[in-house]
Amino acid sequence: MQRLQDRVAVITGAGSGIGLATARRFAEEGAKVVCVDLDEPSGAKAADEVGGLFVKADVTSEDDVVRMFQTAFDAYGSVDIAFNNAGISPPDDDSILETGLDAWRRVQEVNLTSVYLCCKHVIPYMRRQGKGSIINTASFVAVMGSATSQISYTASKGGVLAMSRELGVQFAREGIRVNALCPGPVNTPLLQELFAKDPERAQRRLVHIPVGRFAEATEIAAAVAFLASDDASFITGSEFLVDGGISGAYVTPL
Ligand SMILES: NC(=O)c1ccc[n+]([C@@H]2O[C@H](COP(=O)([O-])OP(=O)(O)OC[C@H]3O[C@@H](n4cnc5c(N)ncnc54)[C@H](O)[C@@H]3O)[C@@H](O)[C@H]2O)c1
Repeated sequence: MQRLQDRVAVITGAGSGIGLATARRFAEEGAKVVCVDLDEPSGAKAADEVGGLFVKADVTSEDDVVRMFQTAFDAYGSVDIAFNNAGISPPDDDSILETGLDAWRRVQEVNLTSVYLCCKHVIPYMRRQGKGSIINTASFVAVMGSATSQISYTASKGGVLAMSRELGVQFAREGIRVNALCPGPVNTPLLQELFAKDPERAQRRLVHIPVGRFAEATEIAAAVAFLASDDASFITGSEFLVDGGISGAYVTPL
């Protein structure tokens, strides 16, 4: 499929996981991909692999965010797709009883303030073009409670979800679509390592997933490519769940 032929896409957190899988998928579908990451080696490698451009940027810095969209526009002449995806889930973000203000603030900055900055600075390009698709990465934890809490992470993703809905509504008549992507747990090296050490912890989560496994990053990337494309032309302001049925489940199959 070449649904993104010659569209210019900026992906934050493109060096790893969901961002990297999406960079590959966007390029396969014909997009010109700008790979943004704080980590230079992985971001540059991703850009090289997809024949795109690497921009080293910290998405919590307004100057960096302005520069990354300007770089994309200067190189390719438009900014059609913004996948605002960079995020963190550090171990010191835990139960509200344990989580300190520094950890709380850091996660809010990287996961929520960054999305505010990215939307604020990409929307003017899209308004001038009269079109654009923004996909902000939230999480299924924005719609469900968890007893294994990461309190700032959850609150940040709730913020991403509400902000995306509001922007989707506000800019709908200007041809700009804004959707919140809500992935379920994804099979990443970090998750594998965590659960290999603690099978009980893995089982506690797997039992809630109707399909009985975690997602692959490529499955999340496929949903992002759909949302980015004109196939999703009537989808905006949505809470786009890609969660293997978790949020709809009461009793799962044995
Ligand atoms: N992995 C999951 O199970 C899962 C589930 C739901 C939602 N998510 C969300 O999906 C997004 C991607 O997750 P992932 O698992 O692919 O993560 P990952 O850790 O594999 O990749 C995140 C990338 O973001 C970059 N990054 C971190 N802070 C940055 C900053 N300040 N500026 C620029 N880049 C920065 C990192 O260097 C890294 O390359 C995150 O927002 C995460 O919260 C992940």
